[in-house]
Amino acid sequence: MMHQIQVKNGFQDKISIAPMLDWTDRHFRFWMRLISQQAVLYTEMIACPAILLGDREKLLGFSPSVEEPLVLQIGGSNPKLMGQAARIAAEYGYRALNMNAGCPSSRVQSGQFGAVLMKTPEIVADCVAEMKALSGLPVSVKTRISLLEMSGRGSDHLCRFAEYVHKAGCAHLIVHARQARLNWSPKDNRTRLPLDYQAVYDLKKSFPDMAVSLNGNVCSLDAVREHLKYVDGVMIGRWAYANPYALAEIDALFYGKKHPILSRVEILQKMIPYLEQNQERLSVICPHMMGLFYGQPHAKNYKQILAAHDLKGLKDFVARLKNGD
Ligand SMILES: Cc1cc2nc3c(=O)[nH]c(=O)nc-3n(C[C@H](O)[C@H](O)[C@H](O)COP(=O)(O)O)c2cc1C
Repeated sequence: MMHQIQVKNGFQDKISIAPMLDWTDRHFRFWMRLISQQAVLYTEMIACPAILLGDREKLLGFSPSVEEPLVLQIGGSNPKLMGQAARIAAEYGYRALNMNAGCPSSRVQSGQFGAVLMKTPEIVADCVAEMKALSGLPVSVKTRISLLEMSGRGSDHLCRFAEYVHKAGCAHLIVHARQARLNWSPKDNRTRLPLDYQAVYDLKKSFPDMAVSLNGNVCSLDAVREHLKYVDGVMIGRWAYANPYALAEIDALFYGKKHPILSRVEILQKMIPYLEQNQERLSVICPHMMGLFYGQPHAKNYKQILAAHDLKGLKDFVARLKNGD
């Protein structure tokens, strides 16, 4: 009988914020850390050849004291090169790596990685083994249930995929609870294919000693709580970007941490010096902050100020809120 490890207890990745290209850069991660100190953050996907040949500081630079726990997501499919990229990441100070085997973007497919890799779990397994061996770091994999164009039951493909990567040493599998279709855009892939949470719950039952996280359209703390009855972790993507303050309570609710929760105004007060230090990046950073007043009376005014990259306006806005105006 398989020995059951209680992965859930003390599992840091109970809540994670999904890797999102152009969104989860280091500025967003600084922002997100003002809201949760515990949720595991992911980088954007960085392509393996870029790590090997590109501007490493630009691609990999991060602040451990601020951003950890942090996972670097790497996209690629050549085991030897993925191993080399993983070693470089370890030298850079990353403490956990993730391999992208689920992104259906055509940009990614042309590099023969992402979702197309669901067809060849043995290649993903070889990549995981090399990445682990050369970096000495834990390596997780992010995937979908299966590809629509593969015949047979999606959950059977998922289990076969999980067997391969688990044997190769992947201790944590993150599943976006949908199939993927290769020739559709990522947006169509997100919106036109149904969610199947049960397939992910079933996967966890079949692999009790591998951590399993569920991803896809999780948009409330109640939903997080519900999924955590069946899986070890929940990965949140667009909701965290669109309405980050909805996650303000997660450290208390899911990690039992008692530190004070910053108010929206306190978050902005901590953000303003950061914006001042990064004035040349305001066009990149301000979009990350748009959702802070989601559903609140001041949302429109706040977003106008951010859209204009108006730092003085933002300081005045904060002063007005502090005075209770
Ligand atoms: C703007 C954007 C960029 C994304 N970039 C990546 C990426 O780099 N790597 C990846 O594995 N998934 C990427 N995804 C997919 C998300 O990680 C996540 O799986 C998907 O959005 C479903 O989760 P959600 O419904 O909580 O948003 C991206 C999604 C969005 C919206």
